[in-house]
Parts: sequence; C-alpha cells; structure tokens
Amino acid sequence: MTNSFGAPGSDRRYAHIVGWGMYVPEKVLTNDDLAAFMETSDEWISSRTGIRERRIASDRETSAVLGLKAAQQALQVTDILPPDIDLIIVATSTPENIFPSTASIIQHWLGATNAGAFDLSAACTGFVYGMDMAAQAIRSGSINTALVIGTETMSRVLDWRDRGTSILFGDGAGAVILQTRAERGGVLSSVLRSDGAGFDMLGLPTRGSTEIRSADGLADRQLHKMYMAGGEVFKFATRVIGESVRQAVAKAGIKLEDVNVIIPHQANQRIIQAAARGLGLDADMFISNLERYGNTSAASIPIALAEALQNERIHPGDHIVLVGFGGGLAWGSVVVKWGLVQPDDSTAGKIREQRRRAGYAIVRIRTRLRQWLRRISETLNALFGAQHPDDH
Ligand code: COA
Repeated sequence: MTNSFGAPGSDRRYAHIVGWGMYVPEKVLTNDDLAAFMETSDEWISSRTGIRERRIASDRETSAVLGLKAAQQALQVTDILPPDIDLIIVATSTPENIFPSTASIIQHWLGATNAGAFDLSAACTGFVYGMDMAAQAIRSGSINTALVIGTETMSRVLDWRDRGTSILFGDGAGAVILQTRAERGGVLSSVLRSDGAGFDMLGLPTRGSTEIRSADGLADRQLHKMYMAGGEVFKFATRVIGESVRQAVAKAGIKLEDVNVIIPHQANQRIIQAAARGLGLDADMFISNLERYGNTSAASIPIALAEALQNERIHPGDHIVLVGFGGGLAWGSVVVKWGLVQPDDSTAGKIREQRRRAGYAIVRIRTRLRQWLRRISETLNALFGAQHPDDH
C-alpha cells in the first residue's frame, strides 16, 4: 500500500462499492438439531430470536478460508485482478491467530501482491468500522481499491453448555470491494461509537484450544468461550440502532425518508423490529436473513448486503444504511448511495477471470512447495544434525 496524500484531484474522490460476495459453510444446524443435545426447542429459539438454523464450518474451514471464498466472489463481480487491491481489512473476532493476521493469510492466498493487510477487532460492528476505514483511505487519495471482509467461525468460540448464547450464532463470511470513482456517491457518511464501560456485557476474553481455569476460583469459566448478558445487550442494541442511524443520515445530508434500505447487524429479529418501530420506519425496509444464518457477528452485514443485491432489493441511486452493534460495546452506521454497478460478463472479463483462477492455483502450488522444502530440510537436519553455535 502506497500513500499519496494530496495527489492531484484527490478532493473529488468517492468510495463506491463495486464488488460484493458471500460464503457460508454447507453444514446446516437447525434448532431441532440443537434441541437434541441441549434443553431448548425450535419454538423457544424462533419465537425469541427469529433464528431457525445456522451454518457450521467444517474442521478445514477457518475464518481465512471462508473470507477467501467471499473475497473471490467479490473480485469476480467487479472484475479486477488481485494485484490491483491496495488494502485488505478483515473484521473478525475469530482470527486463526493473534498474528499473523487473517487479512495477511487471505492477501497471500489471493495473490494480492500490492496490498497492505490487517485485522480489525470491533466484534459485530467490525465490518462497519472497516468500511469507514477503507472509505477514508480512498477519499483521502491514499489508495484506489480496498477489500473489506467480515468473516467468522463463531461455532469454535461458543460454550455449547450455555443455551442462552450458543443458540444465537453461526459461521460465514461476506466481502465488498470499494473503489475510487469521480461521481458523487458510495460511502457518504459514517458514525462510529464505543462505550467500554459495557465490557462485561459481551465478550471473548482470550483464545486457545484448551479449557482455562481462572485464578479467582470461578473454576468452570471458559476464558476462550464467549459470554453474554442477553437481556442487557438487547436493551443496548435497541437504543443505539435508532440513534446511530439518525446521526449517520443527518451527517450524509439526507433525511430518513430518503433511505430506501437498512441493513442491520443480524442479531435478533425482535431487535430489528424494535429498531424499526423506534425510527418510525416500515420493518420491510430492514434486510433480514437471521432465520437461515443466525448471528454471524462481523460477517452478518456483508452477507445480508450480498443477498439483498442478489434479490434486487437495492437499485442504482438508492440510499442504504449499514448499522452494526455489539461487543466493546461498539456500534456504528455507514450511509451509502448506491452507484451504477454492472457485473462485467464481456470476453475481456472472462479472460481476467481465467487469470485470477490461474493466480490462485499458482499461490497454492508455491505454498505446497515451500511446505515440502521446509519438511525436507527439517528431516535432513534431524538425520545429519544441524551444527549448534556452541559446538565451535
Ligand atoms: N432454550 C430454552 N430456554 C432458554 C434458553 C434456550 N435456548 N435460553 C434461556 N432459556 C430460559 C432461561 O433459562 C430462562 O428460564 P427461567 O425463566 O426459568 O430462568 C428463560 O428462558 C428466559 O430467559 P431470558 O434470558 O430472560 O430470555 P430472553 O427472553 O431475554 O431471551 C435472548 C434471551 C438471549 C434470546 C435475548 O436476551 C437476546 O436475544 N438478547 C440479545 C442478544 C444478542 O443479540 N446478542 C448479540 C448482540 S451482537
């Protein structure tokens, strides 16, 4: 990523969404499946949350794998080559490591050789934060093209003994590509907020694969599993959605009546309904796919966006609001004026698609080769012994 602040013409740049994609694992876990191993029922879950099923990642599907698939789809829509990407932001609470970042892993797998890459931690609001960061970088003239991904494998950090929390979440990924355009539109405004006083309402203290016992005697508390005070989070969410949407809409210089579609973080159908009532808007303006995916944290908004586009719920010139909320506590909204984006199915587009596929295959082969070489060198060292500095 190269910076060029103050580049000629940089005062007339808008960050438009030009590509989008989503991916969810194949495995479906229904409410009835949950009722088979915990004391709950489809009736209890669906009436209180609107959720009927969620997707669960296989052992081989990490957050980077899901994110990569969503990103590849987004690249295909916009028909750009991975080396054209300047910046990759991955919003996730379930990265594979503290570092290297999931963003760097995806950057490598895509062959995005000119991109900077980092993970962003803002829980379920992460994608909205990422959109804002990427749009600012584009509008400043610093970069031209950004890939923003929300990807989660929440099933790995759920305490399946906690029926109040585990029934809510699922796995998946969504991605958008933002790019510089001269015409007014794209990301018009954003409002990001945080209130760390609510740190104990929703959280995931640490990561790790073994159960950790806390020193304070709370023997059974699993520090690498998520905790949540459901009722309090519910009240917080219904309060901040309306406030945040109103602020972002005012900042964009439009009125609430000008908004065509709202894409809220998919946490609970009752939260969405309460937000619609609070804003005095028709609940049909809110995109909802909770029934099929549950809460996929940072992935929920880009997945809902990709589906809304696929279902032709969004049209050129529409004003859409993305609103996220969750752990931190953190919340935020972004107002986007949808541009005229057409998927490219020209011959040149098809040739570029072949080049992208070839690029992904080359990265896979190179990665395998490097792993084999490392293994061979380790075996040789074990057989013939590497000289230790102290031997001299
Ligand atoms: N199945 C059956 N019963 C359950 C249950 C489950 N999965 N989970 C909790 N219960 C029980 C409780 O034990 C309690 O029983 P009791 O009255 O005998 O003590 C009863 O149902 C009511 O529990 P309560 O926690 O008050 O339910 P609720 O109506 O507040 O709904 C949530 C719980 C989690 C669905 C709701 O609080 C919620 O959606 N909160 C927001 C959470 C959220 O979206 N978080 C993510 C934000 S990013």
